[in-house]
Amino acid sequence: MLVLGVETSCDETGLAVYHTERGLLAHGLYSQVAVHAEYGGVVPELASRDHVRKILPLIREVMADANCSAADIDGIAYTAGPGLVGALMVGASVGRALAYAWDVPAVGVHHMEGHLLAPMLEDSPPEFPFVALLVSGGHTQLVSVASIGRYQLLGESLDDAAGEAFDKAAKMLDLDYPGGPHIARLAERGTPGRFSFPRPMVDRPGLDFSFSGLKTYTLNTVAKYAGADGLPDEQTSADIACAFQEAVVSTLVIKCRRALEATGLKRLVIAGGVSANTRLRAELERALGKIGAEMFYARHEFCTDNGAMIAYAGAQRLAAGQRESLAVNVRPRWPL
Ligand code: KG4
Ligand code: ZN
Repeated sequence: MLVLGVETSCDETGLAVYHTERGLLAHGLYSQVAVHAEYGGVVPELASRDHVRKILPLIREVMADANCSAADIDGIAYTAGPGLVGALMVGASVGRALAYAWDVPAVGVHHMEGHLLAPMLEDSPPEFPFVALLVSGGHTQLVSVASIGRYQLLGESLDDAAGEAFDKAAKMLDLDYPGGPHIARLAERGTPGRFSFPRPMVDRPGLDFSFSGLKTYTLNTVAKYAGADGLPDEQTSADIACAFQEAVVSTLVIKCRRALEATGLKRLVIAGGVSANTRLRAELERALGKIGAEMFYARHEFCTDNGAMIAYAGAQRLAAGQRESLAVNVRPRWPL
């Protein structure tokens, strides 16, 4: 089965063609980062408009790369939520309309299920069951995954998502959006141990997270060391980035380890934008080594938003017989 995947939930237009036997044939991404850069965050209306401009040319390009025509496509998968309603509507309308025109089934995919299954596109995919840490700009969740579609939420953030915390900390240090990669780069020059930031909720039992206190702590530290330009000096900024990242990473590591121990599972999948963080990967590797557990993640470009993960997740659902009606429905808020 040949499936076209469409992702437009936020600020990336992602397209891909996935074949259930031959694997991923082609994928393409148009990032709107430059469009939103001057606003320090994603402007929903600009995002929708840019998806409208880019989606059809990108579909043509990716289908040409996959060397396929409309007649070869057996189904279309699009992100139906969660995300920005206007942005979601673009992908859903185009996906649903093309499926109607080409007389093939369509399926609406949960964006976080896409992230969760992205590591399945790699050479040594994880076997079920596993624990998944979903860490993106909008979500921080620990999920027990029995098989595709059988997900049990173990814990989640009670306030900010981990990626959101990275973005806000970056803004405090006058770094560009999205802040995660910028904080990670700056942290490399930081002096470990100069500052020690709180590890939120690690002393409490359970698998929930909270990052808003860490955000306030970061803001107060930035203010304390700010010079005339409102910013700490370069080295202090790097030291703050380092302490912030260490606090997020060690919080995530502690909870992942706890989730594996609680479920008795030995496989951990990390997915979503923050799973691209190299410190997180290294620290998890170290902690999991001690308890004989294995870690899986997607290649770098499939950690953040992309069409390949939606094509893959949609292909599984289409193969299982799931179909969307003709109505174009999106769910900006949608639990996994
Ligand atoms: O999964 P994603 O592309 O979009 C959402 O579904 O939200 O995740 C984007 C988030 C942003 O908050 C971004 O700052 C964060 O992932 N991110 C990172 C890194 N790369 C992206 N955070 C920490 N370290 C990174 N290397
Ligand atoms: Zn995402």
